[in-house]
Amino acid sequence: MRLTILGGGGFRVPLVYGALLTDHAEGRVTRVVLHDLDAGRLDAVTRVLAEQAAGVPDAPEVTATTDLDEALRGADFVFSAIRVGGLEGRANDERVALAEGVLGQETVGAGGIAYGLRTVPVAVDIARRVARLAPDAWVINFTNPAGLVTEAMSRHLGDRVIGICDSPVGLGRRIARVLGVKNPGEAWIDYVGLNHLGWVRGLRVAGRDELPRLLADPELLGSFEEGKLFGTDWLRSLGAIPNEYLHYYYFNREAVRAYQEAERTRGAFLRDQQAGFYDRMRDPDAPALEVWDRTRAEREATYMSENRETAGAGERDADDLSGGYEKVALALMRAIARDERTTLILNVRNQHTLSVLDADAVIEVPCLVDANGAHPVAVAPLPDHATGLVCSVKAVEREVLAAAESGSRTTAVKAFALHPLVDSVGVARRLVEGYTSVHPGLAYLT
Ligand code: G6P
Ligand code: MN
Repeated sequence: MRLTILGGGGFRVPLVYGALLTDHAEGRVTRVVLHDLDAGRLDAVTRVLAEQAAGVPDAPEVTATTDLDEALRGADFVFSAIRVGGLEGRANDERVALAEGVLGQETVGAGGIAYGLRTVPVAVDIARRVARLAPDAWVINFTNPAGLVTEAMSRHLGDRVIGICDSPVGLGRRIARVLGVKNPGEAWIDYVGLNHLGWVRGLRVAGRDELPRLLADPELLGSFEEGKLFGTDWLRSLGAIPNEYLHYYYFNREAVRAYQEAERTRGAFLRDQQAGFYDRMRDPDAPALEVWDRTRAEREATYMSENRETAGAGERDADDLSGGYEKVALALMRAIARDERTTLILNVRNQHTLSVLDADAVIEVPCLVDANGAHPVAVAPLPDHATGLVCSVKAVEREVLAAAESGSRTTAVKAFALHPLVDSVGVARRLVEGYTSVHPGLAYLT
């Protein structure tokens, strides 16, 4: 089985490879092809993987290329984990929005729209190439904004593209742990929404919903990350546990202010930190795995303190920090490749799951996965306020897709202006000015 990783020079690739190394079963991935535009980054990551593989007899063989078509030909699975514009682009997404007094964040609000506008044309090009060169391949999309990018690709690949995110599974695991659930893997998490915009409405163990027990117990509720982030009173008012990214909606002013006051944004921090890793790796004698691991630990230690202003650093255990996205990807790939049926929260086309959205809208929802792909399960409707947010943000995503397709600046302004976290058409116009002047990847907007 051959797995192609787009964005193969990315910092998180060793996490994926590390997960592959634990798989010794029949039908596992035996060959990994890394693709990246930057040969230096590919070289750095390839060296880390070679050290990870040392002493593992059945380690997947690794090759690297800067030729996209070559990377795609013959692939059984394609992981797309690219970052158009790099971390410099992310830092600019954050900075331009914060300067206008609105949320500047990787995937939510104005920053997420700018990132989407840059990324969609590239993702569509990839999808078209996959359809031509590897029509039977499954594409697992990690590229953010994951829901929007998955929807863009699904217009060319149908249900052969599936989007993933580690946040719903992390949230489910934290709730299960605080409730003392013995086998969190066996809990049924009633979660639905869009990527980074979903709510846990129930957590059933052996058919019994345990969430009411959590909501009724202020001490328990206040003892885990989301309880601290949102406050127990607000969680009880909602009667649900929102994805941590909902903090940007429910506490928007506080989030914007905290980010404006921060010494530097998350993107700027990671840009500098990761540049350190790739610089260090220019030395051919650098101990690759050690240098990578040190940088990873540093990144994780700062995760909460840099990323969310109210929860303290170190709240999450190691499993929450790094046990997410590569495990979801591997579980998904195994389920499809070996028909190992499982349930995972994934980004797929709605079909008839949420009646307020059309069938092609990509949503985030528990899916039954088997050799035929991911099938969304029926869920209860969202409460009205959540339906409102989901519909507004989906409408914004559709404007982003339209702008990416037509190259219309006017449509890009509309995308920003309609977002619930952008409070003025004037601001939207200035955001488009600001973003097009800093991002070469937005030159297509005229
Ligand atoms: C979570 C989200 C990802 C996001 C990441 C940002 O894992 O699910 O979609 O990219 O956080 O983390 P970072 O360390 O890059 O700020
Ligand atoms: Mn995510």
